[in-house]
Amino acid sequence: MSNSSQKKYKRTTITAALPYANGPIHIGHLAGVYIPADIYARYLRQKGEEVIYICGSDEHGVPITIKARKEGKTPQQVVDKYHDLIKKSFEEFGIAFDHYSRTSARIHHETASAFFKTLYDKGVLVEKESEQYYDEENKQFLADRYITGTCPHCGYEQAYGDQCENCGTSLSPNELINPKSVLSGNPPVKKNTRHWYLPLDHYEPMLRKWILEGHKHDWKPNVYGQCKSWIDQGLLPRAVTRDLDWGVKLPLEGFDGKVLYVWFDAPIGYISSTREWAEATGRDWEKYWKSPDTKLVHFIGKDNIVFHCIIFPTMLHTEGSYILPDNVPSNEFLNLEGNKISTSRNWAVWLHEYLKEFPGKQDVLRYVLCAAAPETKDNDFTWKDFQARNNNELLAVFGNFVNRTLVLTHKYFDGRVPAKGQITGKDAQTLEQLAQFPETIGKSLEHYRFREALSGLMNLARVGNRYLTEEEPWKLFKTDPERVQTILNVCLQVCASLAVLSEPFLPHTSGKLLKMLGMKPCKWHDGGRSNLLESGHAINKPELLFERIEEDAIQAQIEKLRVTLNNNSAGEAAKPLKETITFDDFTKLDLRTATILEAEKVPKTKKLLKLLVDTGVDKRTVVAGIAEHFNCDKLPGRKAVILANLAPRKIKGIESHGMLLMAENHDGALTFIAAEENFDNGSSIS
Ligand code: 2FM
Ligand code: ZN
Repeated sequence: MSNSSQKKYKRTTITAALPYANGPIHIGHLAGVYIPADIYARYLRQKGEEVIYICGSDEHGVPITIKARKEGKTPQQVVDKYHDLIKKSFEEFGIAFDHYSRTSARIHHETASAFFKTLYDKGVLVEKESEQYYDEENKQFLADRYITGTCPHCGYEQAYGDQCENCGTSLSPNELINPKSVLSGNPPVKKNTRHWYLPLDHYEPMLRKWILEGHKHDWKPNVYGQCKSWIDQGLLPRAVTRDLDWGVKLPLEGFDGKVLYVWFDAPIGYISSTREWAEATGRDWEKYWKSPDTKLVHFIGKDNIVFHCIIFPTMLHTEGSYILPDNVPSNEFLNLEGNKISTSRNWAVWLHEYLKEFPGKQDVLRYVLCAAAPETKDNDFTWKDFQARNNNELLAVFGNFVNRTLVLTHKYFDGRVPAKGQITGKDAQTLEQLAQFPETIGKSLEHYRFREALSGLMNLARVGNRYLTEEEPWKLFKTDPERVQTILNVCLQVCASLAVLSEPFLPHTSGKLLKMLGMKPCKWHDGGRSNLLESGHAINKPELLFERIEEDAIQAQIEKLRVTLNNNSAGEAAKPLKETITFDDFTKLDLRTATILEAEKVPKTKKLLKLLVDTGVDKRTVVAGIAEHFNCDKLPGRKAVILANLAPRKIKGIESHGMLLMAENHDGALTFIAAEENFDNGSSIS
């Protein structure tokens, strides 16, 4: 239980959160989990360390059964589809898992059942009867997501039994007002059922010592802080079984219709994936999970912290033969163009689509997502930033430097590495700087600071680019070819280092560059050598490592998101009607026809117009947010409907007496409601 940062290990087991097989992978998953874990795994492999990088699809849980029901499929059909899609897109993107499994695999069911059985036999689990909602028509207990009702906090009528998606509050099914079963639409009844609980409260002293004392300084503050707050609030027993027919069956006699809770079986998926890999490759899986010489590292998103830092470690600890994680690097969330990424609202950049739309540009996305990773706070992905980072960083610095060096080597020395001549202070300084990079970048990686590590790599490219620009060998060749030999030798050594040190971050680029330089893959620390390329060594013809990303490609992506936004607002327009009101409520509204007499823009605003309207009884000022839709000249004379008795409000210093009523179409366009009709001003609408 000592602070791990001082500990020397013999091998590393890296896990990346198992993605749910109910949707494709998007940039949020990549930036938060799979790219950092992949960089870490590749770095350790390149250092020659013993490492496994494990993942797989998380195929259980209620959302999958709900999706299957909606689509008229079986849960197995749903997970088959997404497991294949996810696995393929990870491979094409270059996420180099040692093994990618799935939790519907037989080996996983066996491993998870056996794990549960061990805890059960050891008397760790607490058995308890409780009342839970039951659908009598479908003869089924209802998981939290299978119950909807009115949120007690905000009155939203479609809140789920575990959460209100309107106000975001976590709920329990008992809190819902007028609960209904999603299956039958009927109000559910309460019925007794038996479940098994992991008594986290008993293990609070162990968790306190292990995390709060042992990992205060080496776990990221966001992870440590969340754990501390959970522990300080007092841990409660957690049910690890569910009444459901999709999942790992409870390995106890006489309990049909019960499965392990998805968050009990999913992390065991890391173990079963390792076992599957070991069986296929003739290895021993146990040392990766049970030897104290193994460093276990879980890469996750922030919504998974409690499961990986508190619940799973308690399971591992109580089972008795497993090690606990050394670190749980967790990232915050990535937003897309200022809005939260959402699978259900299709607000995402999907990996499988990106791979089709930007073929051969895996490393650009890897680069941008690592550079903008939400390491310490939520961060935003924008297509403009994607373009700028490609054009101004990868292309203008890294690509440009390599290309100029290789082209000049072909031009002056027939594609052979020239020998160094006399070394100047500048040359020596550049080579000394070069020697530091493996150490500096490596240190950042070992502390899970991936953005810092990537910026270290780009600094190496900058060092090379600046040196080449300042030394201007193209001006010297005629007068001092020997000097040019030295300059290009130094530049080629920097290119070789870039080929070696970029591998964890930009594996496709590294592969191309190694090929162009006629090199074999090297160990990490070779990336600091000043003679990685011997003089006389022949290099191949240069190819472009990066291409400019033009405006139209970016505009196409922005347009795609705009269409999504419109579709979503169309969907919202089709949402259930607002809460019912009484006739008395309605009669309180004074709706009248009116004519616009004058219209002018409200200064320093984009949307507002100041209107003078004739209501039949008076002429009054109304401020309306329609400036983006109508030209002021065209408005005088138009008929409109106004809410005449809305309390006056000051908007941008102008007192508005009423509200103009408009219809908003699905594409966001506004239409006058009484536009073509010949009403008298002041006709009341009732
Ligand atoms: O949040 C998620 O996407 C979960 N499927 C992560 C599971 S991680 C592990 F426990 F398997
Ligand atoms: Zn609510």
